[in-house]
Amino acid sequence: MTRTVDAELGAAGVFGAEHRRLLGYLQRARGDGPAPETSALRERYTDDVRATAVGTWRLRMVNEHRSSGVFAGLHGAMMECGSAFAVQTTVLRMALDEVHHAELCGRVVAAFGGAPRAEAEAVPASVPRHTGVSPLESAMRNALFVGCLAETVAVALVSHERSLATEPLVRWTLDQILGDEVSHARFGWTFVRDALPGLGVEAVVRTNAYLRVAFGYLEAAEHTFLPVADDPSAELAAQREALGLCRGQDARDLFADTVRTVIVPQLGELGLDAASAWSGRRRMAA
Ligand SMILES: [Fe+2]
Ligand SMILES: [Fe+2]
Repeated sequence: MTRTVDAELGAAGVFGAEHRRLLGYLQRARGDGPAPETSALRERYTDDVRATAVGTWRLRMVNEHRSSGVFAGLHGAMMECGSAFAVQTTVLRMALDEVHHAELCGRVVAAFGGAPRAEAEAVPASVPRHTGVSPLESAMRNALFVGCLAETVAVALVSHERSLATEPLVRWTLDQILGDEVSHARFGWTFVRDALPGLGVEAVVRTNAYLRVAFGYLEAAEHTFLPVADDPSAELAAQREALGLCRGQDARDLFADTVRTVIVPQLGELGLDAASAWSGRRRMAA
């Protein structure tokens, strides 16, 4: 089973108009400027680099689209645990942000001559309902995984790519995405900080055990997304960096550094033994 991810499908008609209205509202709320000119972009890079850019940004489009389903599932978890309306609207807005990110990635694909379309694995677009714990503890685990782990790693990776990128369209796109990913990470940290103390000491013990699984899953997922390829030539590497495409091994190193120097200490401040959970993480196949 596959699912179609097509950034241009349904652009016309009533749904297209509503879609543009909503995304335009988000862009105005953030004060985003217009996208840079891209007409000369295809001539600036070799065929190899353009093909890599199309492939990488298409994969990003698919992943961003999947993230939207995760936030939609998180909204259900937030309803179930009786969270405030303000939390629920925030989660729904983040689901919308991710569709917007997918569309932005599709625009980069198109700018490099590719079709902003993919057939992707039909993964369940949701979050798990953790058994044996209260709805609030289950929602807290999901907020922790999505915000404190996955989105915090995304902030580090996108920031790094933004620092490398010199191509204006790529910088502009990464700027849009980065601003949102920072707020998505902050949501997770805020929710866990608010929820965890009220869940009691046994919840801390259970969360430490959950973290071993969560870190293992996160590492496998990130390594799938960050394959280690052969080293390109210096000229090719420079062209790829201009487009925000860093070496797979560098990205994996940055991932591990972010866990060790940002995520583990911050979870430690919340009373969790994240250092032991990371070193004792359950290894999973990528
Ligand atoms: Fe995103
Ligand atoms: Fe995000």
